[in-house]
Amino acid sequence: MSTPPDLSHYWMPFTDNRKFRRSPRLVASAHDEYFVTPDGREVFDGLSTLWCANAGHCRAPIVERIAKQAAQLDFVSSFSMGHPPAFELAARICALAPEGFEQAFFTNSGSEAVDTALKIALAYHRLRDEGHRCRLVGRERGYHGVNIAGLSVSGLPANRKAFTPVLLPHVDHLSHTQNLELRAFCRGQAAEGAELADELEQRIVARHDGSSIAAVIVEPVSGAGGVLVPPRGYLARLREICTRHGILLIFDEVICGFGRLGRPFAAQFFEVQPDLITFAKGVTSGAAPLGGVLVRREIHEAFMASDQPGVEFAHGYTWSGHPLACAAGHGALDLYAQEQLFERADASAPHFENAIHALRGEPNVIDCRNLGLIGAIELAPRPGAPGARATELAQRAWDDGVFVRPIGESLAFCPPLTSSAAQIDRMFDVVGQALRATA
Ligand SMILES: Cc1ncc(COP(=O)(O)O)c(C=O)c1O
Repeated sequence: MSTPPDLSHYWMPFTDNRKFRRSPRLVASAHDEYFVTPDGREVFDGLSTLWCANAGHCRAPIVERIAKQAAQLDFVSSFSMGHPPAFELAARICALAPEGFEQAFFTNSGSEAVDTALKIALAYHRLRDEGHRCRLVGRERGYHGVNIAGLSVSGLPANRKAFTPVLLPHVDHLSHTQNLELRAFCRGQAAEGAELADELEQRIVARHDGSSIAAVIVEPVSGAGGVLVPPRGYLARLREICTRHGILLIFDEVICGFGRLGRPFAAQFFEVQPDLITFAKGVTSGAAPLGGVLVRREIHEAFMASDQPGVEFAHGYTWSGHPLACAAGHGALDLYAQEQLFERADASAPHFENAIHALRGEPNVIDCRNLGLIGAIELAPRPGAPGARATELAQRAWDDGVFVRPIGESLAFCPPLTSSAAQIDRMFDVVGQALRATA
């Protein structure tokens, strides 16, 4: 084992840094569905790292594309210049997208994708002399990244609380859709609950008038808020209300995109057409930072038809469309197609559902929920120690060779789409043993 690094200089994101320095969790390498620790232990990546590595790790088509690209053209900016792989990748992503999405705007992360989508929505309304539409609507327990606009529409108080005075004004939040009293242990989508979407019209539109609202942003399945699956018909109902009031509907598909629900995008799984789709993570299987926004044709056309000369949308990032990230994206899309990974995810989903619901009855499990290859269990909180049970379980699972993520009182599962039935079984077996051992 090599000498451990000095841990004192890197301020790690979303990490209990003091605890990490006391007991570091380092990964030396990765392959396929596994991390390898510095002492050579293999750990199954039950969260696709951070809902990203949909095709697994260090896959040859991605590695080779990045290496080739680095040697050929390491960087050219996308500000009034370009390189073919960026255009080709945008075309490939649009070809996977629902009908009517013909342009992709590139960012480097999901947070940037969200802020970009919100800015496109605001700028679009202004172009059409509807600049009075400046209100944004998010949802409780929604996660839309960490930049100020995305944080403003997010619904996770722990992330918001230090910044409340500077978050965007004119933001409302819909209620989240979880109801453990009515819908615990629901397999897939609940049959009841579409009417929860009516809150948009009955409370928010009623209070502010639809004409003041620019956009509603939701994750089709909330991920970082604890994996909340929408009831049947809920997203379609949101769509109807948005359409009725001229409000743009944004699906934040940073987690759902690229096969998580067995389709390229959740919009196709739910058969609901949003106006903008954000993506990131799975677009490169996590191998390089890349995100973006898919834009519906009419919205893009409005920018292109503008009589304002010059730059149509004053927005972008130095690394928008970075050649190495685009190379990784091409490699990931090659793998998704060659190995039919979206179809495989669809085929594995029933097994994943049975396996997660087999944890029902284990000590302290008060809910199991799932859709596609994403799911969570919810645990009875330990009195006086919020979140402690999930954190302890996740640590135990790691020690036993499985990585899963604690989120409050939940434990989230989001394995690579390449995972076999045996790997899925082992992941839930390890968690089952950990539940019994820590009861
Ligand atoms: C739905 C959603 N939106 C946005 C983000 C932010 O992405 P990033 O961490 O790449 O900025 C995430 C990250 O988990 C996410 O799950």
